[in-house]
Amino acid sequence: HAKRINIAIDGPAGAGKSTVARNVARRFGYLYIDTGAMYRTVTLAALRHGIDVRDEARLEKLVAELDIGLEPGDPVQHVYLNGEDVTEAIRSREVTQSVSAVAAAEAVRLRLAELQRDLAAGKGVVMDGRDIGSHVLPSAELKVFLTASVEQRALRRYKEIGDRQGIPLETLEREIAERDRMDEQRKISPLVRAEDAVLLDSTRLSIDEVVDIIANFGRTKLGEAK
Ligand code: CDP
Ligand code: CDP
Repeated sequence: HAKRINIAIDGPAGAGKSTVARNVARRFGYLYIDTGAMYRTVTLAALRHGIDVRDEARLEKLVAELDIGLEPGDPVQHVYLNGEDVTEAIRSREVTQSVSAVAAAEAVRLRLAELQRDLAAGKGVVMDGRDIGSHVLPSAELKVFLTASVEQRALRRYKEIGDRQGIPLETLEREIAERDRMDEQRKISPLVRAEDAVLLDSTRLSIDEVVDIIANFGRTKLGEAK
């Protein structure tokens, strides 16, 4: 049967990871898995329970009790919290503002990384997040660290949601920079480029250009794979 590889795409908020990863997965006929959605789901549950997102003990108890379901799909991956479809609810501004605090908790990271490794066990996945190449799938055949200037990333988000939700561009930029800082500085599996990850700056690249570059790397790796 055909050889398959795993592709890890990490980077800061708004770099284009999910858009690009979904398209790369489509080209290879692979599963796309958005791991950020899982951290968002735990965050939604914490907010609903009125848990202080810095309270690691309560987060540990919460994550042990939660049933998080992930159903890969194209164009939409669905996520379930104790059976409820929360695909839309996890995109709220409240969740976005609290997710990096929840994602800093060790118990949360341990649990979600385990679920993510199970999802990738069969090979042929494109997974995006912050610690996929560095921690979750260290033996992924292709690792990409996708970035762009913070101004460009804020502008992309603004075009996507900002004008609809009435959030000023400057506010979006500040919130993105703050989330990056928390993701880079946390103790457990922070946002970092894995040594063997390709660094790709998309500040001046279109979505199609980024997808082409990653798909080319992927074909090369596929040729080398055993
Ligand atoms: O799409 P966006 O850049 O807004 O973020 P996301 O991919 O949905 O991830 C939301 C948050 O989850 C990130 O800011 C991180 O705090 C956390 N996250 C993480 O810690 N590790 C991952 N593998 C994925 C997400
Ligand atoms: O997943 P992540 O937070 O890294 O970014 P995204 O949600 O995939 O992308 C943020 C926005 O930037 C989307 O509206 C994309 O259409 C847009 N965009 C991009 O992803 N890549 C480019 N080279 C240009 C724009």
